[in-house]
Amino acid sequence: MNIDGRTAFIVGGTAGIGAALADRLRDAGSTVVVGGRSADGPGQTRIDVSDPRSIVRARDEVLAAHPDLDLVVTMAGVMPIEDLRDPAHSPVAERAVAVNLLGTVRVIDAFTPHLLERGSGDIVTVSSGIGFMPFPAMPTYGATKAGVHAYTEALRAQLAGTGIGVTELVPPAVANAGQEKINPAALPMGAFLDEVIGLLTQEPTPNEVVVEAAQHLRWAERDGSYAEQLERRSATSAALLGR
Ligand SMILES: NC(=O)c1ccc[n+]([C@@H]2O[C@H](COP(=O)([O-])OP(=O)(O)OC[C@H]3O[C@@H](n4cnc5c(N)ncnc54)[C@H](OP(=O)(O)O)[C@@H]3O)[C@@H](O)[C@H]2O)c1
Repeated sequence: MNIDGRTAFIVGGTAGIGAALADRLRDAGSTVVVGGRSADGPGQTRIDVSDPRSIVRARDEVLAAHPDLDLVVTMAGVMPIEDLRDPAHSPVAERAVAVNLLGTVRVIDAFTPHLLERGSGDIVTVSSGIGFMPFPAMPTYGATKAGVHAYTEALRAQLAGTGIGVTELVPPAVANAGQEKINPAALPMGAFLDEVIGLLTQEPTPNEVVVEAAQHLRWAERDGSYAEQLERRSATSAALLGR
């Protein structure tokens, strides 16, 4: 994928990985609008992906200012820890589904007609290593990210031949949003982005961008390490949940 001269909307680009990706795209010569609930500056658009009306409003605003938009990244996500023995987790689970899964579907729906009309462009979705290799302390999170993966595969198949590329970013733990406290092995943001940009700019663009540190999660079942990894991650999760 070419990353210079693009016009991109990174939904969930006001912080973390999305903000770092926005910087890399701008550095490469692209125009980037970032979106999020906290967006309020130049080059930012306010959007709450759990609210369908907010998505349509943001889409209209972005396309009015940037009719040449050709790249949409669905980065917005929440990563809650949930104790499934406590029924109070239920609204947390519903929120994760609304933001991570439904939000992804709705943002893609909002921009697909524009990209189809252009006959070219790219959609980048964001799943997680946890979508392939559960981390039991984050059950709904893992479910939403497995859902994003399945949805992305179907989207790619349905958009084949339209000129729209569909790429799934599969991050491992990246040192952000408290990750470094939960997981000291989390990848530094800069090193992660270096590798992501290297993979993203390969021609042809890989269907999935899976950095080295995510490979053991992505391919655990194939490689026969699933049971052993799950056992280790279950122990870490139990400690995190105070058991
Ligand atoms: N960090 C990791 O270790 C890791 C690992 C695997 C996958 N991921 C995935 O990578 C993505 C980014 O993660 P991150 O670590 O960079 O998280 P982060 O620092 O918490 O950033 C999350 C971004 O999503 C936006 N967001 C959250 N709720 C939203 C909503 N309802 N509507 C619109 N935007 C919303 C936030 O903006 P506002 O607050 O302005 O709304 C922010 O820009 C997520 O999808 C996450 O699941 C992260």
